[in-house]
Amino acid sequence: MTARVLPATDLLALADAAAVLQRGGLVAFPTETVYGLGADAFDARAVARIFEVKARPSFDPLIVHLAEAASLDWVAVADDPRAVDLAARFWPGPLTLVLKRRPELPDIVTAGLDTVGVRVPAHPAARALIAAAGTPLAAPSANPFGYVSPTTAAHVAELLGDAVDLVLDGGPCRVGLESTILSLAGEPVILRPGGLPKEELEEALGMSLPVAGPSERPLAPGQLQAHYATRTPLVVLAARAQAAPPGDRRVGLLAQRPTQARGFAAVEVLAPDGAVETAAARLFAALRRLDAMGLDRILAEPCEETGLGYAIMDRLRRAAAGVRS
Ligand code: TXA
Ligand code: MG
Repeated sequence: MTARVLPATDLLALADAAAVLQRGGLVAFPTETVYGLGADAFDARAVARIFEVKARPSFDPLIVHLAEAASLDWVAVADDPRAVDLAARFWPGPLTLVLKRRPELPDIVTAGLDTVGVRVPAHPAARALIAAAGTPLAAPSANPFGYVSPTTAAHVAELLGDAVDLVLDGGPCRVGLESTILSLAGEPVILRPGGLPKEELEEALGMSLPVAGPSERPLAPGQLQAHYATRTPLVVLAARAQAAPPGDRRVGLLAQRPTQARGFAAVEVLAPDGAVETAAARLFAALRRLDAMGLDRILAEPCEETGLGYAIMDRLRRAAAGVRS
């Protein structure tokens, strides 16, 4: 069934969306990273519907979205001065902080943990929606569990249809990768690389930051090996591609930059301009287009693992871990 999609710039649509949330409904909304599937974070029944719609395991906690950093103590205990500093520096923006939670927050939001993931998204429509709803929004990425995250309203409508009460269309996501998750619950550790480069966080904290590996207990199921997977088997190459492997299989290429590679059934170039920001913003849509072509295999070129390139390689490796061959 088709989703109800309205423009995020329309004030009536915004009021409509806020009313849906206040009634315990679900609204998909744009953020600068990816589209989120939002519910009132203080309404446990509404949050339960998110898990149903996404077919998401209940051990996977949700990120709580605020309109402004000043609302932080609604949901978290911000007694760590580093949290206050990072919030002032990087919010609104693609950073999620894992902090001690407030007990008033329903357990279903945090999967029973004594911490909560919080962020202030930078998309003006997201902040306007949260402000209009008058409550923080619990929101995972608006995709079925384990699949590539949506970076346009059309992706959300395709994936979730009328299982969501309303989709606000705020255009394609500017960053295109999910937020970087930093835990300050104990010693600082990055739980998921993402749209805020690790180097910027390290500079702000004056220390180098460990990144929790997929082998460790998944504190964030964003850390699960086979996550963000395409349905088509995907392999990450060690270097740029020259030509498709011989044989009659239909192979697609995900190229980082313009390429002369021959023999591929389809080619997606992530960054025609060579900029890593462009590659990040186009990554999920390109994966989705290749995945829709009925290819036998997708080969993905690697990129340099610095800045946003770190998160791009992280997502490609996780997609590759879903290979069923
Ligand atoms: O950019 C983003 O972060 C997007 C947009 C919508 O804000 N959201 C997003 O949510 O990617 P989701 O649910 O797809 O991924 C959130 C990750 C999950 O892997 C979850 O386990 C982790 O955040 N997380 C949330 N709360 C946590 C907590 N208290 N401790 C550890 N991990 C947490
Ligand atoms: Mg997700």
